[in-house]
Amino acid sequence: MEKGEERGVKFYSSKEAEMDTEVFFNKEMRTNRDLSAIAAKVYSRKIDEEMRICDALAASGIRGMRYTDSGKVWMNDANPSAIEAMKKGLEENDLDAEVSEQDTNVFLSQSKNFYHFVDIDPYGSFVNFLDSAARATHHNGFAGFSATDNAAPAGSYPTVCQRRYGSKPLKNSFMHETGLRIYLKEVFENYARYDKAFDPKICWHERHYTRIMGRVTESKQRCNNSLENIGYISHCSNCGWRKLERIDECPRCETETQKAGPLWIGKIADRRFTQEMLKEIPEEWEDSVELLEKVHGEAEIVTPYYDIHELCSKHKLQVPKLEEVIESLEQTGYPVSPTHFCPTGIRTDAPLDDVLDIIKIQSE
Ligand SMILES: C[S@@+](CC[C@H](N)C(=O)[O-])C[C@H]1O[C@@H](n2cnc3c(N)ncnc32)[C@H](O)[C@@H]1O
Repeated sequence: MEKGEERGVKFYSSKEAEMDTEVFFNKEMRTNRDLSAIAAKVYSRKIDEEMRICDALAASGIRGMRYTDSGKVWMNDANPSAIEAMKKGLEENDLDAEVSEQDTNVFLSQSKNFYHFVDIDPYGSFVNFLDSAARATHHNGFAGFSATDNAAPAGSYPTVCQRRYGSKPLKNSFMHETGLRIYLKEVFENYARYDKAFDPKICWHERHYTRIMGRVTESKQRCNNSLENIGYISHCSNCGWRKLERIDECPRCETETQKAGPLWIGKIADRRFTQEMLKEIPEEWEDSVELLEKVHGEAEIVTPYYDIHELCSKHKLQVPKLEEVIESLEQTGYPVSPTHFCPTGIRTDAPLDDVLDIIKIQSE
């Protein structure tokens, strides 16, 4: 095993973890761990006892060790080499945590309503761990789910998506937002079965993974109220119009729309929570700060984002500067923001005709 370090925490992992017996570590997931650690810290202040944190698929234990400054940590993995790595890491950093070597579903099922913070960071999809995670989460808790099977809910494998998540995806310029909303629906519905309401606090997509994080509150009423956040996306592939509603005909050009869903149609982040995270995150974590700022900026706008390049190509317009489109839309009073999903994207609740008018003026 080789020694590594992330944000000042030392850990042990296999050089190239290609087999199940080796200890997995992916440096590309640093932002996932950064934002998760900051979310844990922010949430720990909202409960009046020591936070009980569970890293249920811990591998090297880097994530769990980074959580230790927010509460008492339990780390679990079925791989004996991972257990060895976690113990070495804890000793190296002089940290305390409970370590266990069990199947994650068995491990979580022993602790009903126990953990204030549950982290599920598996290979591929989190669906196989959702049920036990929902049961193990405290009635006043928080949970985070990573998924790397993004090709399915982003529309490359619609049959897999239908089977795994019970939803129809759509492959288009905002497919990763559709995918994220399908994941979110799945998490919400699983918690709702246990009368626990899952309220998204910060969800994002980056490169090959999507992360869903939210607050869990045991309340039938909150679950019932949130049912209105489950619905469909309609999209017109002719003119680019889109709405988080099931509408069969495009109101702009009367083309039959394509629909994705059921999926989450509410907000995917809570601006008050992301504001608290912004205060907490060290400024030298530059990539993570940049991502967090974008997610924060677009938190209140629900309309799926527009890729300005795609829109211009569809309407045979010259591509204007993104900043100028944003500035002009701001001047008209519509909420508008860059989006973390796409470097050439904007998120706005302005009608598509207004967006196109502004692009036309900018590109003249
Ligand atoms: C993607 S890695 C976790 C990475 C880690 N959370 C991090 O941030 O570096 C997934 C881990 O889950 C473990 N695992 C997979 N299926 C499991 C199961 N059913 N029960 C327990 N551990 C499991 C694997 O051994 C592997 O270490």
